[in-house]
Amino acid sequence: MKLDILLGLQWGDEGKGKIVDLLSPHYDVIARFQGGPNAGHTLEFNGMKHVLHTIPSGIFHPDKINIIGNGVVIDPVVFQKEIESLEKIGYHPVENLFISKKAHLILPTHKWLDAMLEQQKGEQKIGSTLKGIGPTYTDKTARNGYRISDIITPNFLDKFSVIYKKHADILIKNGYSPKEEMETVFTEWFNSLQTLLRFKLIDSEYEINDFLTEGKRVLAEGAQGTLLDIDFGSYPFVTSSNTVAAGACTGLGVAPNQTGKVIGIVKAYCTRVGNGPFPTELFDETGEQLRMQGQEFGSTTGRPRRCGWLDLVALKYAIMLNGVTEMVLTKADVMDNFDTIKICTKYKIGKETTLRFPAETDSKVKPVYKEFEGWKQNLSEIRDYNSLPQAFKAYLSFIEKETGIPFRIISTGPDREQTIIKE
Ligand code: GDP
Ligand code: IMO
Ligand code: MG
Repeated sequence: MKLDILLGLQWGDEGKGKIVDLLSPHYDVIARFQGGPNAGHTLEFNGMKHVLHTIPSGIFHPDKINIIGNGVVIDPVVFQKEIESLEKIGYHPVENLFISKKAHLILPTHKWLDAMLEQQKGEQKIGSTLKGIGPTYTDKTARNGYRISDIITPNFLDKFSVIYKKHADILIKNGYSPKEEMETVFTEWFNSLQTLLRFKLIDSEYEINDFLTEGKRVLAEGAQGTLLDIDFGSYPFVTSSNTVAAGACTGLGVAPNQTGKVIGIVKAYCTRVGNGPFPTELFDETGEQLRMQGQEFGSTTGRPRRCGWLDLVALKYAIMLNGVTEMVLTKADVMDNFDTIKICTKYKIGKETTLRFPAETDSKVKPVYKEFEGWKQNLSEIRDYNSLPQAFKAYLSFIEKETGIPFRIISTGPDREQTIIKE
């Protein structure tokens, strides 16, 4: 079998969690390949809402194996809280969640470094979730990282002390002092390692390749979105990992020729949390309407998300980078009351028009829009494709025609049931 990959085609929060949960019955294994607790993946079913940060979104299916891959960075304190909330409602993640020994650990000092670096950037700050993501991946690539496998070695405290000292030196030199009580934070962090140690720690690259050889179906779950990719996003306003499909290969140890479908999740409009360019951003009432009706507030930080129209230039760029084979549309129901809906089809930069996503974050991009008639109908109760309003179908067909990629699933609400599978 080949590894299927599911990821976001915009700036994150496209609804990946809901769709992974929905597709889980079709897979044997669900594996997260990058990012860390900066992610917030929301699932709703049976009247309950769950937000996952580190744990793959297949966890609510007890017969499915979930894996946290080598490309992920784990904050053991956040992980412990996630596990406790699952156990409280009767799940037993210890039975179906495995963790790569090569995943890196977020130390409390990584979070303080994150805060310090953001403070120093001033106006130019990224708008990080401050979960320690950047500094942890920095240590990984600088070969100073602290991995899951380190906590099961006898000299694990020695290695911890070396890294801690490096971090403390930087923090002190920059006059940064954490707001929290340091001793409490470290006690909590060390205690939370015990939760990690309850789980099966594995060489996930071997396990995943073995699963594929045995004919098991494996789904790779991405975090963040393509436009937050460290190489291809609007650098430096990005996250610190490769969020594109190639990241699933390095983040799980699966060769490119062993990959299959690439399922791209697209929100019917765009949102972005944090700073950085956003060509179709709306600063008017329509933007506010999208935010309020779409409940666009961060799942991890609660920050209001910036909102704007769907951007086909950015979407086509994301499709190219990921080799998307099929798409899922989410949250079109948020625009049920809109008289008109716009889609950006190209950019104007000065006198030039372009179909390319610019590398320069400060280029003055003006979106050129095509206008669509709103469908003015409640989509959230519709369960079959044929019953969808004509105006909505026209909107879908336009995007499919422009991108050359079909929509296989239309999500019409946050609940697992609010879904239309297109045959
Ligand atoms: P993720 O990070 O990509 O998993 O997305 P988030 O969970 O951060 O944000 C998506 C939000 O939209 C969540 O609150 C979901 O419950 C919700 N959601 C997902 N799909 C739909 C949909 O089709 N319609 C509506 N109205 N909400 C949705
Ligand atoms: P999910 O998986 C939306 C954004 C942050 C900030 C930038 C860098 O839920 O879609 P970082 O904490 O990585 O240093 O922040 O990336 N960001 C996200 N935005 N959804 C996410 O994850 C995000 N994870 C990080 O807001 O702009
Ligand atoms: Mg999210």
